[in-house]
Amino acid sequence: MARSTPSSRDGASGRRAASARRAGKGAASKSSAGWLKEHFDDPYVQRSWQEGYRSRASYKLLALDEKDRLFRPGMTVIDLGAAPGGWSQVAAEKVGDEGLVLASDILEMDALAGVEFIQGDFTEEAVLDALLDTLGNRPVDLVMSDMAPNMSGMAAIDQPQAMYLVELALDLAQQTLAPEGRFLAKVFQGEGFDPFLKALRENFRRVVTRKPEASRSRSREVYLLADGFRG
Ligand SMILES: C[S@@+](CC[C@H](N)C(=O)[O-])C[C@H]1O[C@@H](n2cnc3c(N)ncnc32)[C@H](O)[C@@H]1O
Repeated sequence: MARSTPSSRDGASGRRAASARRAGKGAASKSSAGWLKEHFDDPYVQRSWQEGYRSRASYKLLALDEKDRLFRPGMTVIDLGAAPGGWSQVAAEKVGDEGLVLASDILEMDALAGVEFIQGDFTEEAVLDALLDTLGNRPVDLVMSDMAPNMSGMAAIDQPQAMYLVELALDLAQQTLAPEGRFLAKVFQGEGFDPFLKALRENFRRVVTRKPEASRSRSREVYLLADGFRG
């Protein structure tokens, strides 16, 4: 069963966005070429090829770990929005054989040693249930979410969808984190950000905002790291 989403509540504007995308097809292919060039020229993309990481996103998590010491051997970690697997790779390396990384994404992801993967839409109740079943009673040390919806470029559509995903991630963290556990999430600055920050402060003893170097400066994304789950 679907958990109700902003997009399902706002079908008319979703359809408007789809037709605007169709109308701008020529412009889209020009911007796709620009995106590809920027992607291939990106030093973090090039580094990820050399160093065997599946995505440039790995360098965001490595930088966050260097600053905030996210991982220890033996930890149990949930990775939401995991595909293609850059964060899961880093997490699995850091938690080692005694640890567990439980990853999920709406897209397929190639298998990774030390990572259990559940494919499905996180807004669906069945995916939440599958994650909870896989965990059993195992307390979780860190819940991470790098989920981001497909961006239409229209803030009125993208922002509520992005906020909904991160709110669901917090909901899972509240259900699974051990006392003093941590939560790390990508959040886009805009409507809904401040109430979300407030909710984090109510649930955790300390919340900090991070913008790792690999996060593009023009992007409204920041990472919120919450420490000390009140349980
Ligand atoms: C920025 S990418 C994640 C990159 C990943 N952390 C890595 O290191 O390779 C965002 C991910 O969120 C996923 N996503 C978006 N909406 C989702 C949903 N409703 N349920 C599950 N995953 C979703 C996308 O499929 C995409 O793989």
